[in-house]
Amino acid sequence: MKILVTGGTGYIGSHVAVKLIEEGHEVIIVDNLANSKITVLDSIKKITGKSPIFYQENLTNFGTIEKIFKDHQFDLVIHFAGLKSVSESVEKPLMYYQQNLSGTINLLRCMEEFNVKKIIFSSSATVYGDSEVAKRTETMPTGQNIANPYGKTKYMIEEILKDICTSDPKFSAIALRYFNPIGNHSSGLLGEDPNGIPNNLMPYIMKVASGELEELSIYGSDYDTSDGTCRRDFIHVVDLANGHLAAFKALETPGFKAYNLGTGTPTSVLEMVETFEKISGRPLPHKFAPRRPGDLAEIWADPSKVKQELGWQTHLTVEDAMKDTLTFLRNHQ
Ligand code: UFG
Repeated sequence: MKILVTGGTGYIGSHVAVKLIEEGHEVIIVDNLANSKITVLDSIKKITGKSPIFYQENLTNFGTIEKIFKDHQFDLVIHFAGLKSVSESVEKPLMYYQQNLSGTINLLRCMEEFNVKKIIFSSSATVYGDSEVAKRTETMPTGQNIANPYGKTKYMIEEILKDICTSDPKFSAIALRYFNPIGNHSSGLLGEDPNGIPNNLMPYIMKVASGELEELSIYGSDYDTSDGTCRRDFIHVVDLANGHLAAFKALETPGFKAYNLGTGTPTSVLEMVETFEKISGRPLPHKFAPRRPGDLAEIWADPSKVKQELGWQTHLTVEDAMKDTLTFLRNHQ
């Protein structure tokens, strides 16, 4: 298939691009490089032997995106492009609504104009908002008490996709709700390498391990959990990438469908630190700090729907992710 991958040089998009190329698909990447580097294309080539066609463009520029659709008849769009920092979205909500919503609407308008009927959207467990039940299933309500604009854009885009599926009986849209992706390709050539001080746990751990940052603050030690720290569903990004290929099956029938991509097993922040120390053989400087506003105590996936309907499940562990992270770190020092 000829597949447009928006955000294809990003952390998750690049891992999916590799899988698609390995499966024999033709990949065209559109990315504005706002949060990724052009050298990712060399890494994709090193791993797969092939260079995807690349456009450095922003989805908010309708005219240039339309031109790309004129030049290629896509069979499918996989849509990752978007801003993703929770804290930045609280500070700059308009920027998030402009980029994530306008960008997606432009993309969908082009799909309509050029008769492209299939999309896989990179959604997030954040659409579930707060809930009494930590284990999230796809039948739970979405959109309630979402704590930040970033999360709201994910929810709003899912709603837009539902409306398009209602209006066009031939349209298929799959929302993949990611839990907490970690790790990288085993070659250590691709990975998450944010600029500045990271918000997310694993990139922060990496910067402490490399000596770039002094110590990790563990936000909250008094949660009502097994060890007092928050618990999350950390999923290896290579398993996550495979989930996108599994989702092709769901595109065969029109309509909107959502699937959780998670392991189904939570790990605490403290357990993450301990596992990293065990795998690296070195202590990771850390301290306990006050809770981070907006954090949920626990959230993990019920992955039974995706297993039953698409035959997908995770195979890699947190330990595997940590080992691959160390390979990435060695390659980038
Ligand atoms: N944490 C720390 N110290 C840090 C960074 C994080 O203790 O320096 C803790 C957080 O408090 C939280 C856990 O590590 O308890 C995970 O935090 P992340 O920021 O890595 O991830 P979140 O679970 O907050 O958010 C992630 C994605 C969002 C997504 C959400 C869905 O970043 O995009 O999962 O649940 F919306």
